[in-house]
Amino acid sequence: MGIDYRQLVRGDRVHASLLHDSEVFVEEMERIFVRGWAFVGHESEIKGNGDWVKRQLGNESVIMVRADDGDVNVLSNRCAHRGTALCWEHSGNASFFQCTYHNWRFGLDGSLRAVPFPDGYSKPKADLGLDRAGQVASYRGFVFANLDGRAGSIDEHLGDAGYELIDRLCEMSPTGRVDLSKGWIGHRVQSNWKLWPESDSDGYHVGFVHASMSASTDTYYDDVAVGGDAVKSSRAVDYGKGHLELDWRPSYKQELSWLGVTRERVADYFSALSERVGENAAQQMLWDGPPHAFLFPNLFLGETVIAIVEPVSPTEMIHRHTAVQFEGADDAFNERLLRQTEAAVGPASFITTDDAITAERVQAGVAGAATSWANSSRGWIDLSRGLHRETIDASGVRSSDASDETTNRGFWYRYLEIMSEER
Ligand code: FES
Ligand SMILES: [Fe+2]
Repeated sequence: MGIDYRQLVRGDRVHASLLHDSEVFVEEMERIFVRGWAFVGHESEIKGNGDWVKRQLGNESVIMVRADDGDVNVLSNRCAHRGTALCWEHSGNASFFQCTYHNWRFGLDGSLRAVPFPDGYSKPKADLGLDRAGQVASYRGFVFANLDGRAGSIDEHLGDAGYELIDRLCEMSPTGRVDLSKGWIGHRVQSNWKLWPESDSDGYHVGFVHASMSASTDTYYDDVAVGGDAVKSSRAVDYGKGHLELDWRPSYKQELSWLGVTRERVADYFSALSERVGENAAQQMLWDGPPHAFLFPNLFLGETVIAIVEPVSPTEMIHRHTAVQFEGADDAFNERLLRQTEAAVGPASFITTDDAITAERVQAGVAGAATSWANSSRGWIDLSRGLHRETIDASGVRSSDASDETTNRGFWYRYLEIMSEER
């Protein structure tokens, strides 16, 4: 008998065993990250032919590479001979990938190009290429892939909301394009990976976990997330398919709150943006700021930060982030975005460190909850906050106060769909 996920994910609670059980983890990697679409990287990271970056799709190490024809390929980072990992660095440029064990050489499309002493093989070379992602799709430079190749269309996965959230970010760039090539910082955390989609889209904890940030800096989170009016006007939104947003827009009290500056300080950016979208639209964007959203299963659009949630084991994950840069914006503006990212989520920042400690405490708390307890009163995690007041619109979008767990439930609804789907 397999795991009965319907018993473990209920409308108002989930069972703690889902956060540490190793059988669950194995099934998640297969169902969510092998069979389903996930974010791999951004095309701006591999601008030139031969540029590559190493990424993780679930537990599978992959190489995202721009081939000689300019196409983006996602290849397994595993030699087709005896399984040796091909790339050790995080990124590089190559005209081929050569294995260090017996020197098999693979092209940028994964095909086997050369083998030492080839007369030892009677198989055709075409059968001995690298495994490749079955489907790869790119939207405004954001590259998504699935290994299995039978995940349905990317349109189906992203839905209108997924596209709109990416659009909202990219539209703020003077050219309509973002650049994510400044490099990634990874925080390795002793927690289950699912605690990060939860906390990245959780408006309830901000005033408590991040209280020290509020106390020491003048942060806009006080206006949009920390209590009183803020949590009533900001919205927790579940768009369906596990795509979520903490929509701060109704709470901003002035333009550029999200950047903590006045328009005079970013005049060059404003005029560059106005040139493309018109002054009125540009002004609205200064108010609205970039989205604070999560795209299932692993991409966090964290305003001026982009983060990837990378599972390692049931009790370990890596939260990897980079700064958004707007193509066509002046250097001083992009520098500001970079410094803001460091201050918000870098190694010496408040946000990620506080969230990491919290995730580790949750992990410590749930460690004893066994799967078999699912039918008892033990080991449940409550996610009922705001259930009685959340609304659902004609297109099925659920929303509620920013402190409500509408977003958290949205993640688990999608999770349950995938984990209990018959195939
Ligand atoms: S394992 Fe890669 S060439 Fe033998
Ligand atoms: Fe947080």
